[in-house]
Formats: sequence, C-alpha cells, structure tokens
Amino acid sequence: MATATEADAMRRAIALAARALGATSPNPVVGCVILDPQGTALGEGWHRRAGGPHAEVEALAAASAAGHDVRGATAVVTLEPCNHTGRTGPCAQALITAGIARVVYAVADPTDDATGGAATLAAAGVDTEGGLLADEAAAGNAAWLTSVLHGRPFVLWKYAATLDGRSAAADGTSRWITSADSRADVHRLRAEADAVVVGSGTLRADDPHLAVRDHEDAVQPLRVVVDTHASVTPGARVLDDAAPTLIAVGEHADTTHLPGVDVVRLPRAGADGGGHGGLDVHALLGELHARGVRSVLLEGGPALAGSFISAGAVDRVVGYLAPALLGAGPAALGDAGIGTIARALRLEVTDVARLGPDLRITAVPTASATAPEEN
Ligand SMILES: NC(=O)c1ccc[n+]([C@@H]2O[C@H](COP(=O)([O-])OP(=O)(O)OC[C@H]3O[C@@H](n4cnc5c(N)ncnc54)[C@H](OP(=O)(O)O)[C@@H]3O)[C@@H](O)[C@H]2O)c1
Repeated sequence: MATATEADAMRRAIALAARALGATSPNPVVGCVILDPQGTALGEGWHRRAGGPHAEVEALAAASAAGHDVRGATAVVTLEPCNHTGRTGPCAQALITAGIARVVYAVADPTDDATGGAATLAAAGVDTEGGLLADEAAAGNAAWLTSVLHGRPFVLWKYAATLDGRSAAADGTSRWITSADSRADVHRLRAEADAVVVGSGTLRADDPHLAVRDHEDAVQPLRVVVDTHASVTPGARVLDDAAPTLIAVGEHADTTHLPGVDVVRLPRAGADGGGHGGLDVHALLGELHARGVRSVLLEGGPALAGSFISAGAVDRVVGYLAPALLGAGPAALGDAGIGTIARALRLEVTDVARLGPDLRITAVPTASATAPEEN
C-alpha cells in the first residue's frame, strides 16, 4: 500500500513529466522521484528528449550527483519502468543495479517491447507496486497512450470564439478575438504539441505562422496545412524556416509551384467524412503517426474541425471565449455531421480558467459521446 509521502512524490513526478510535453515523441513523458526510507527526496528527474536518458536514470544520476546513497531507497515513477534496450538501456535493470528496494509506479506500460519491467523488478526481489494515481498520470500521458492504444495521434481541438460562439466576423476578419493572455496560452499548447494543423481556408484567410513564440526550449511542432488542391503559395508565412512544415494535398494536386516543400498526397474523404469533402482525416492522422507525431493541436478552422469531429478524431477541446458579441459570422464549429439534438457530441468539462478577460474551457467527449434520446 503506497504511503501519503509516495502519493505526494507521484504528484511531483507527474508535474516533472509534464515539463517535457512536446519534446519526447515518439516516447512518453515520464517523471521520477527517489525517496529515502524516511520519505526524503534524494533526487528527481524526467525524460527530456527522445533518445535522452529516461526519467529513472536522470533521477538516479541526480541523487548520485548530490552525494546520496540510493541503496534501499524507493523510486516513484509515473510509468512502469521499461524492460527493453532501445536508444538507452532498460530502466528496470538500472534500478536493480542501483540497489533500489521499492518501486511505485502509476501506469502500466502497454507497449509490447517495453512491458514487463514490473515483473523484472519483482523477480529481482524489488518490492513493486503499480496503479498509484494512475488516472492523473495517464491524463498527463494522454498523447502517448492514445497513440499506443489507437494507432493515431491524440488530437486537441483549440478554438477562439466570442461569447455567442462566433469564430470570425461576417466580413471574415478574426484576428485578436481573444486577449493577449489567451494567445500566449495558445503558444504553450503549440509548444506541447508535436504538430499544429490548419485547413486551407484558414491559410487563405489569415496566412498564419503557426510556430511557437516565447518558449525558449520548445521543440517547434510540425506545421501542417490540409490543402486538397495545393493552393498554398510559396510566400506563405507557414513555409518559412522557423519550423518544419508539411502540406497535405490530394492525390492529383499540382504541386509544381512548391519545389523543396514537404508534400504528402492523401486520399479524399469518403461519404462519412462530414459535409466538406476534402482529405480523409484518418489518412492524415495515419501519416502523421507514421512520422512520429503523437499529439496534434488542431487550430481550425471551423470546416476542418467539423470533419475531425465527424470522424470521431477529437480527444480534447479547449475553447477560449472572449466576452464579446458578433451576432453574425461563422460559428466556431462547422458541419460535423450532427443533424439532431439527440446526436449532439456531449462533453465533460475538465477545467475552467480565467485568462485575462477571457474564459478557457477544457472538455473531453464523454464515454457515450452522444445525448440520450429524449422521450
Ligand atoms: N477563431 C478561431 O479559433 C479560428 C481558428 C481558425 C480559423 N478561423 C477562421 O476561420 C475561417 C476559415 O475557416 P474555414 O472553415 O473556411 O477553413 P478551414 O477549416 O481552415 O479550411 C477548410 C478547407 O480545408 C480544406 N480541407 C481539406 N480537407 C478537409 C476536410 N477533411 N474537411 C474540411 N476541410 C478540408 C478544404 O479546402 P480544399 O479542399 O480546397 O483544400 C476546406 O475548404 C477564417 O475566417 C479564419 O480566420 C478562426
């Protein structure tokens, strides 16, 4: 049975893991805290970059650098220690070699090659316990777990709207709907994502840049434009060298005006792809997954977001609501193939925050996802 001190250490480990969101793909984010038998932290660490040391090894090294003897200590770690040799050695073995007596982890590793760390530890006589704060740790690793379990990246759809749900004015202008605080928060979301995706309509309307600003250590996300007919022009801001860019086009698009640009050809959406036609959302996500993308920030616009919702490919929604009214102009979400209230996509609100004058609402689809039929 884990102690309250171990639970506190797990919360700390979850927070440490979150520091590397957007930087570890295709690996998970992992945090680790080493406790002595009295519950004092001897060292802590997190997995910072794919190919870099794992969290357990970082924490052992930090304890050692501080002059602590970790023999007999407890390792508290957000994910079951790995059991395989990849770009780095197996963490289960590193913990055994260091003389760790007890390991408390949150989430079991579901991957075929890394699983079994807990069994290895137990076989070596290490007191091993899983499941501590598993839901909280799994939420922190949602991108990686989604990709492992569903074979596609985790998708967060972010939008900005007025209080009456408009994402642009009647004349198409939409810049600065929300405050500087909200816009800064969007850069944090970009920094935590592996890819930022927009539709060709947003590209034409706004010429967005989509790179991360003001996060010094951030790994720039892959900028992706979903552009069936390759309408992007060579001078588009998204094609500068601030971050990598991928243009997803239809199979027969003429891309001769885009020499040197990374282009992928994808099939068109089938009849179930929402009302917009365009490219197949699952094919796009499959392509991104194959490129190592584990988390996608979908920045719109409304038409593309509608197709993602229609395809069942949105895992979290973050809406920035500005206290302003427009009364006309496009809604934040376009046609999502939902024709009647009984089919509304029901969400559960997981967080509400105030950012300057705005509200930020975070929600996830409920398990049943549609409303019950009314009598
Ligand atoms: N407030 C916000 O949060 C926010 C965010 C983004 C944009 N906006 C505003 O939204 C407006 C643009 O929105 P929009 O809805 O016209 O454009 P959009 O969603 O950015 O792009 C839609 C276009 O993407 C292409 N596309 C390719 N595959 C698609 C698919 N499977 N589903 C849907 N579209 C697909 C289609 O054109 P092709 O097939 O020809 O390529 C489609 O017309 C602008 O006014 C912009 O400022 C607001």
